[in-house]
Amino acid sequence: MASMAACLLMITTIFSILHLSFGLSSDYYSKTCPKGEEAVTDAVKKAVANDQTVPAALLRMHFHDCFIRGCDGSVLLKSNGNNTAEKDGPPNISLHAFYVIDKAKKAVESLCPGVVSCADILAIAARDVVVLSGGPTWEVPKGRKDGRISKASETIQLPSPTFNLSQLQQSFSQRGLSIEDLVALSGGHTLGFSHCSSFQNRIHNFDGSHDIDPSLNPSFASSLRSVCPMHNKVKNAGATMDSTSASFDNTYYKLLLQGKSLFSSDQALLAHPKTKGLVSKFASSQGAFSQAFVKSMIKMSSLTGGQEVRLDCKVVN
Ligand code: HEM
Ligand SMILES: *[C@@H]1O[C@H](CO)[C@@H](O)[C@H](O)[C@H]1NC(C)=O
Ligand SMILES: *[C@@H]1O[C@H](CO)[C@@H](O)[C@H](O)[C@H]1NC(C)=O
Ligand SMILES: *[C@@H]1O[C@H](CO)[C@@H](O)[C@H](O)[C@H]1NC(C)=O
Repeated sequence: MASMAACLLMITTIFSILHLSFGLSSDYYSKTCPKGEEAVTDAVKKAVANDQTVPAALLRMHFHDCFIRGCDGSVLLKSNGNNTAEKDGPPNISLHAFYVIDKAKKAVESLCPGVVSCADILAIAARDVVVLSGGPTWEVPKGRKDGRISKASETIQLPSPTFNLSQLQQSFSQRGLSIEDLVALSGGHTLGFSHCSSFQNRIHNFDGSHDIDPSLNPSFASSLRSVCPMHNKVKNAGATMDSTSASFDNTYYKLLLQGKSLFSSDQALLAHPKTKGLVSKFASSQGAFSQAFVKSMIKMSSLTGGQEVRLDCKVVN
């Protein structure tokens, strides 16, 4: 009986936590802004047609938003005289395409002023770019509020590409995300591009006994070294995240198993049988990856934190 009471208590606790952080719903704007989501999707489609770097940029932007103070649009705020914002913090390398969110917000504001949050627009856009890149679709839960605080100094809370598995696990678990979420969401690295600085540690002075990370495939490592020499002078030099970096697919996991991933944090997913097992599963099944990715995206994007609906995504009300 005692264990049943404990079990009931646990279930009610879980439900109340879910209720608090998941106070979101896919029909949140069905009365107040029924055409809002479509307007966001249209704006994203137009931008992607003009600029192929937009999908990866918006997916990464949503991840950064959610990992600092929850998905509250804080990544979208610009710095002002009093404050240096997240977007000007150190790991902002390659954060771009903010203009797409501003355009989507304008379109939505003209339909229903002051109703749809910037954080929701970014979450919708992140889903849209996955779909436009050939990935799975899902209903985006909505009802996030925008935050009023954005600090460059807090970007150190983001996981670093040099993290090992226990550091990654800690960073995710602090946000209620599991090992499965870590492996599935790392699949976001199927899209886009990285600058040399993010994987420099693996290809020069790796450790006391190796210049190059021995877990890297040797020919892949030499191709990385040729685009990223030790004293790299080319401004935007780097490499694509995987060999099909415009398609949302499971190639990232296949290459990871061959020692062809860019970051130590990618390679780290092979360090434990459990995470390695998930990598193998996703490498052999696109369907298993898609399903897991959708589930984990919904979980990550339900980390909320704000309190207002911003009128301009770049500045607080
Ligand atoms: C697991 C921890 C993660 C680490 C350490 C990490 C780190 C990085 C780094 C260092 C870059 C390259 C930045 C540059 O040099 O330009 C990058 C790019 C990227 N990341 Fe992650 N990331 C992580 C998780 C995620 C997640 C969860 C997503 C989304 C679901 C994501 C999506 C992306 C995308 C799409 C790019 C390419 C950006 C572009 O081409 O503009 N990452 N990541
Ligand atoms: C800086 O903060 C002060 C006091 O809160 C405020 O009056 C001023 O407008 C702020 N400056 C900027 C550029 O936001
Ligand atoms: C990144 O931060 C630097 C300054 O720290 C800033 O000059 C640059 O505009 C920022 N990039 C983006 C995309 O906001
Ligand atoms: C991961 O890195 C941390 C910090 O550098 C270190 O303390 C820890 O021992 C490392 N864990 C493993 C399993 O290598």
